[in-house]
Amino acid sequence: MELEIKLIRDHCLADLNEVEELKALDNVRIKYLGKKGALTIALKGMGKLSSEERPIIGKLANEIREEIEQNITQQKQALEQKEMEAQIREEVIDVSLPGKKHLSGNLHPLTTTINELKEIFLGMGFTIEEGPEIEWTKYNFDYLNVPKEHSARDLQDTFYYKDDIVLRTQTSPVQVRVMQERKPPLRMISPGRVYRTDEVDATHSPVFHQMEGLVIDKGITMGDLKGTLDLFAKKLFGEQTKTKFRPHQFYFTEPSAEMDVTCFKCGGVGCKVCSNTGWIEVLGCGMVHPNVLKACGIDPDVYSGFAFGLGLDRIAITKYGITDLRLLFENDLRFLSQFK
Ligand code: DAH
Repeated sequence: MELEIKLIRDHCLADLNEVEELKALDNVRIKYLGKKGALTIALKGMGKLSSEERPIIGKLANEIREEIEQNITQQKQALEQKEMEAQIREEVIDVSLPGKKHLSGNLHPLTTTINELKEIFLGMGFTIEEGPEIEWTKYNFDYLNVPKEHSARDLQDTFYYKDDIVLRTQTSPVQVRVMQERKPPLRMISPGRVYRTDEVDATHSPVFHQMEGLVIDKGITMGDLKGTLDLFAKKLFGEQTKTKFRPHQFYFTEPSAEMDVTCFKCGGVGCKVCSNTGWIEVLGCGMVHPNVLKACGIDPDVYSGFAFGLGLDRIAITKYGITDLRLLFENDLRFLSQFK
């Protein structure tokens, strides 16, 4: 029997010697020390031994079991260490490798322009309003005091959906909606898309962008209009910018004017940007017509106000030196990615 368990030990140690991974190690443990393991089964035969032999073999068996267990523990530690090192080697990060480049987009020059205008007017306490692009003719024309026979109402100029529904030709109807929905004092701007039946060319598009502005309160004068719009021009085009107001005619304002600013490129001397005039036309404006106030439920004897409207596409192309309006709508990435 002594020989038998020594043989088992030798086999076991030989097996352990060949083990290369944890799983195999466990299999060896089961093969020799498990319930049906070789050593366990051999020791079951101890009952047949004489009482002299039994303690000797028992001692030997214990020593061998311990030896095997120790061996397994050592090997286990060594294998675990090896696995961890392999894992660390695999997961190592090479910080000297160049990073992955993320493709990031950029805002459309028109969006940047609109954001800039919003910032300026938000800073002056204006709210930002929205209105529908498909609009009732009464909001687009009637409440704004545009006479029935005016050419702007013509089918040639305006996209009609039905007799009384149009694609709005201007952002001015938003003024009406805000005045009818809320009580003064009001201070609002409203940027958005507008539509007219223009043929597409370098300076025209059937869809373009405007921004409306409206201020209504007690005692608002032309002085407030000029002060506000002059400040706006300086913030948008630079501190040195001067403004000039030319008389004009709009149905919804009286008196009405157009505002020019000194050319931000040449400072007023004359260059390509301002067609050698030194001035750039920026917006239409005026004191809100009493008829419009009345149509919107505001008493013109108590309240007064001013309004203005500007073309955003024109401002964007002038500011960025873009020579063809169509570039704003074509979504050509080669063009758009220049505005990073
Ligand atoms: N709606 C005008 C246009 O499309 C622009 C405009 C002019 C708006 C004067 C106004 C204004 O509010 O007071 O040409």
